[in-house]
Amino acid sequence: MIFLGKEIPSPLTLASGILGISFSSLQRVIRDGAGMVTTKSLSLEPRVGHEGPVIAEFEGGLINSVGLTNPGIQEGLKEVEKFYSIPDAVAIVSVFGASSDEFVQLALAVNQSKADFLELNLSCPNVEDEFKRPFALVPEKIIEVVTAVKSVSKIPVLAKLSPNANDIALMAEHAEASGADGITMINTLGHGMVIDAIARRPVLRNNIGGISGPCIKPLALKLIHDVYQRVKIPILGTGGVSNGLDAIEMMMAGATAVAIGTAVYDRGLDVFESTRLEMEAFMETHGYAEYSDLIGILELN
Ligand SMILES: Cc1cc2nc3c(=O)[nH]c(=O)nc-3n(C[C@H](O)[C@H](O)[C@H](O)COP(=O)(O)O)c2cc1C
Repeated sequence: MIFLGKEIPSPLTLASGILGISFSSLQRVIRDGAGMVTTKSLSLEPRVGHEGPVIAEFEGGLINSVGLTNPGIQEGLKEVEKFYSIPDAVAIVSVFGASSDEFVQLALAVNQSKADFLELNLSCPNVEDEFKRPFALVPEKIIEVVTAVKSVSKIPVLAKLSPNANDIALMAEHAEASGADGITMINTLGHGMVIDAIARRPVLRNNIGGISGPCIKPLALKLIHDVYQRVKIPILGTGGVSNGLDAIEMMMAGATAVAIGTAVYDRGLDVFESTRLEMEAFMETHGYAEYSDLIGILELN
């Protein structure tokens, strides 16, 4: 199938932040049936992130307050270069900046690499204390950053949006009008809090974190459907996809490709191959010849 002009063997994608950027894990994801991988969000300088514990499981998924731990753009891009030794590798490099100037510098660096796509993480909820409101909640910021990045980027640009926005479809319209080539959605929800009753304390050292996994899937589906009605650019859907049926639902809601994050913790790297096989079985049983036949075909009651 085609995503933003690129041939990919399957719509499945590794979501940002899940396996970091190490070449060996990215390689395994592609071998096991993913069409694309997204790197951990890279910033100009290395970031240590928050003190642990930064991830906790609960019955609906995961809560995390990783805080954008990453080795910085220069080191990150070295791993990305290695990744391109794999035939047919397709990578989305995710970046995080504190200002539109930083996003522009990051975009210039990514454009010097072999990366296929650039994803702007405008929506991390875990660094609000440091960087204030995520840009994905502020229309003027979305317009400023996307416009600035598009003026320097030769590779397609995806804007990653937040379910915490009052009207995510409006934010997607701003991103599209500013030149974004695609929308990635949704980033983690909340802040939430998971409590250890015996210790009488939140489980995360940071107390609060972003929520991901199966419990956010119904919200992701609804918001993807809303955005699909309002923009023409493709959507890379993410949020609670754990199996083939989840991925099919997300494409029916309007996603062109589907990124898997939290399910990698639950099902291991095999999740890409099993999800692809489950999708193919569903499509064969129900008479869908191509992945693209699924996109946006949901009919409302
Ligand atoms: C541990 C963890 C780290 C994450 N780090 C990033 C990140 O660096 N950049 C980003 O854009 N999204 C990050 N995300 C969000 C995911 O890419 C994804 O949008 C979100 O978790 C919803 O998908 P899921 O339910 O399949 O996990 C992170 C999620 C988790 C669970």
